[in-house]
Amino acid sequence: MLRRLHPDQPESFAFTPANQAWAEAQITKYPEGRQASAIIPLLWRAQEQEGWLSRPAIEEVARMLDLAYIRALEVATFYFMFQLQPVGSVAHIQVCGTLSCMLCGSEDLMKVCQEKIAKKPHEISADGKFSWEEVECLGACANAPMAQIGKDYYEDLTTERLSEIIDEMAAGRVPTPGPQNGRYAAEPIDNLTSLADGAQDRDPHNAAVALAVKIGDTIKRIDGTEVPLTTPWQRQDDHVAEGKADPDEPTPAKGRSADASGVTEQEAPASSAAKPVSADFPADEPQDATVGNEAPEGGRPIAPDTDADDSTEDRVGTADPAAPGGVYNAPKTQKPGGTAESGKTPKKPTDT
Ligand code: FES
Repeated sequence: MLRRLHPDQPESFAFTPANQAWAEAQITKYPEGRQASAIIPLLWRAQEQEGWLSRPAIEEVARMLDLAYIRALEVATFYFMFQLQPVGSVAHIQVCGTLSCMLCGSEDLMKVCQEKIAKKPHEISADGKFSWEEVECLGACANAPMAQIGKDYYEDLTTERLSEIIDEMAAGRVPTPGPQNGRYAAEPIDNLTSLADGAQDRDPHNAAVALAVKIGDTIKRIDGTEVPLTTPWQRQDDHVAEGKADPDEPTPAKGRSADASGVTEQEAPASSAAKPVSADFPADEPQDATVGNEAPEGGRPIAPDTDADDSTEDRVGTADPAAPGGVYNAPKTQKPGGTAESGKTPKKPTDT
């Protein structure tokens, strides 16, 4: 399906101050030079704030991540979860139309949407409050048929119940999400058949519903004030600097090697020492297979790949408790003419 930006676009976009702080904090999760990895969280927060992704919002996210606009546009148009057209001001209803839900009546739910909202998906209702679409499986098949409305799932739906939910939302109320037929979660409708001990003492809602009720953000446009901004990865970073890091928590790499190899993820070496044959470097000329594979200071060298495979052994050497330092066998060296001491024929570049 071709996904294009909507023809009617707002003049500008700006995150709310709290969302701006949230977005800037997300960017610090990623290593230096990899900030573009924050693109999906930032696009998603822009959509949560506005209901949909406008061109100015995509441009702003690209600017924050120092990305070309086309790169951000590629992401926004690739994922169907990003709404590229305005949605209803109250709620956008996503009815699951995949197998379990279809067998349990999702087509009837969509008829309700057609009658109460708009004939076609992504059209906005006459009062501007609702829009709807059919989506693929949302992973709540045991509670089919279901629909996602805003941030939450409404499960075990009937046409009557979906109709009531739409009416309630139109009147400014937010019905409790979760199973709509009295089930607690996905247990048999009659009663629990296992793990029944303590069921009578459980909370009135399952964990997902309880959180939705507590935060109250089911169909709210998110402005960043709903929950406090927490940045545990930054706290961990501070604790590392202060020597107070929790030993059970992973620590940020900060460009440091995780082991004695001296190699960080950002500078992982090529796995092969093979070089392409060229006029400047004929095949019969001896190749120094160790060039580029010298050991970093205090670390171990990287073995040339003389095998037909691409094994870890070739990349980092062979563990050998008897070897100096206990971790490494010297890399297999290549002989002039390209014959490896291992007796295996080294890889040759293909002609194609
Ligand atoms: S088929 Fe509808 S949630 Fe999986």
